[in-house]
Amino acid sequence: MKPQPRRVLIVEDDPNVAALFRRALDNDAEWNVSSRAAQSLADACAALRNDAFHAIVLDLGLPDSAGAVNVRRVREEAPDLPILVVSGQGDESVIFEALQSGAQDYLIKGPLVMSLLSRALHYAVSRKESENAIQRTLRDLRRTLMGTVNVLAGMIELRDPYTAGHERRVSELACRIAAKIGFEEDRVEGLRVAATLHDVGKISIPSEILAKPGRLSDIEYDLIKTHPRVGHDVLRTVEFPWPVAEIVHQHHERMDGSGYPRGLKGEAILQEARIIAVADVIEAMSSHRPYRGALGVEKALDEISARRGEVYDAPSVDACLELFRKEGFMWDED
Ligand SMILES: [Fe+2]
Repeated sequence: MKPQPRRVLIVEDDPNVAALFRRALDNDAEWNVSSRAAQSLADACAALRNDAFHAIVLDLGLPDSAGAVNVRRVREEAPDLPILVVSGQGDESVIFEALQSGAQDYLIKGPLVMSLLSRALHYAVSRKESENAIQRTLRDLRRTLMGTVNVLAGMIELRDPYTAGHERRVSELACRIAAKIGFEEDRVEGLRVAATLHDVGKISIPSEILAKPGRLSDIEYDLIKTHPRVGHDVLRTVEFPWPVAEIVHQHHERMDGSGYPRGLKGEAILQEARIIAVADVIEAMSSHRPYRGALGVEKALDEISARRGEVYDAPSVDACLELFRKEGFMWDED
């Protein structure tokens, strides 16, 4: 079988060592390697910008940059490129940091390196391919999950046309607040799911009550107040990687214990639920309801400012005010 052509970038400041590496790769049995050398990190980054490669052999001690930062810089230029570090540095913490930073393998320079180079490079390439495949699968799964979540939310909205788009808008605002507070990307994803489904428990409430113009009776209001628990019961059997059911359960709790269904206070309420509480109030007050016209965003912002820290979580309120007042936040159009 004809060997596959592969382009390898060798980043090594010592030209003699680089020549030895190139010779070792020239004899690769499976690949027809054409290699190119770079002597500094700046050279390497320029080469990565201008050319396509299949893999990179990277030294950590370069004249213009040293350590695991080299791995991170290379990944910024070429995130999908397999990286094999070949370095004189044998320190355990350096090796660990380089691998943590995204290198697929690490060889310490020494007498054995030439015989190991080809094999380690093949391993680095196949490992990177597996990593990329897993990332793609995760992305696809996530998209499928969000599709299902949106269908579910859409079904709830069908029963309550007056609040159409409420879930989506609450979710959008909640995620922006969370990002501002400093949530990691994965935690924001969990919040997106929970916020999109936060009123799923309304499935158990008759549409006449949901869409009733005018005030609700005490009994009707008590019935409405069951929706966080029903939502929790519906969702708790699904094994999400986030505490979605519990967040939904808590989205009407308030910092001073005045919320429902359990009257939880302060720290006992998940941060995600505190964020949804703020986003929910803002969205609800600024939208039209069967029993009243829209009160407007300004009124809603006044409401959360007035009760900041007491009823509504202070960091969530601050982030929300900043989004609307300083960054001109607006919901995406339907
Ligand atoms: Fe709700």
